[in-house]
Amino acid sequence: MTKLSEHVAWYYVLREFWTIYRFHSAGGSKPIRSHKREVRNRLSDEMDKDPELLQRQAQLLPACDWLGRALDQGMLGVGAGLIRSIQQIVDQLEWEYGYQRMPPGLKPKYAYAELMSPRGPVVSECLALGLVLFAPRCVYPAHSHDGVSESYVCLSGVVSEGDAGVFVPGSLIFNPPHKTHRLTTGDFEPTLLAYAWIGPPEKLLSQSMKFSRQRYQTRRF
Ligand SMILES: [Fe+2]
Repeated sequence: MTKLSEHVAWYYVLREFWTIYRFHSAGGSKPIRSHKREVRNRLSDEMDKDPELLQRQAQLLPACDWLGRALDQGMLGVGAGLIRSIQQIVDQLEWEYGYQRMPPGLKPKYAYAELMSPRGPVVSECLALGLVLFAPRCVYPAHSHDGVSESYVCLSGVVSEGDAGVFVPGSLIFNPPHKTHRLTTGDFEPTLLAYAWIGPPEKLLSQSMKFSRQRYQTRRF
């Protein structure tokens, strides 16, 4: 068993996450300010406990062909601090699909990597953090999260949620529990998002991706 304090590069990834949730603006939104505060407070508390870091088998998926470009472009944005820290652990990341059945067309264009969750790599019962990578022109189907508040921070590329806006590096998208949301990405560049989920342990462990169409109902993890 190893502890976070034995893995300096991982420690600084989490520190950079905390910095984003502390210093990026909430845009005057009380629910977003509250969510950001809750994420960074939980993160501080977890880091103070020096949590376990479980070794994962590193894994690449087809969408990782875009990872280098996404990281390079991310270095130009306000998330560069987090991007730099991610580059120090990028060879250790386990990229996953998270679906038992993949929606058609998504497989070559999407992957996510967990950084902190109840099942690791950094173990937390109350907070999940990770990265989501999308190829250009990706449509991520409508889904919602039962009992979990979610935020995406754009680190690289361009993303829209529900056709309601265009989000660039530094933008934060907030999805309260049960809110259905659908993502699309820009035409030419890959998109890299950091995500944070807060919720009770049982909800984080059994996180469901509930697509709006019945045939896409499936379960993450
Ligand atoms: Fe989501």
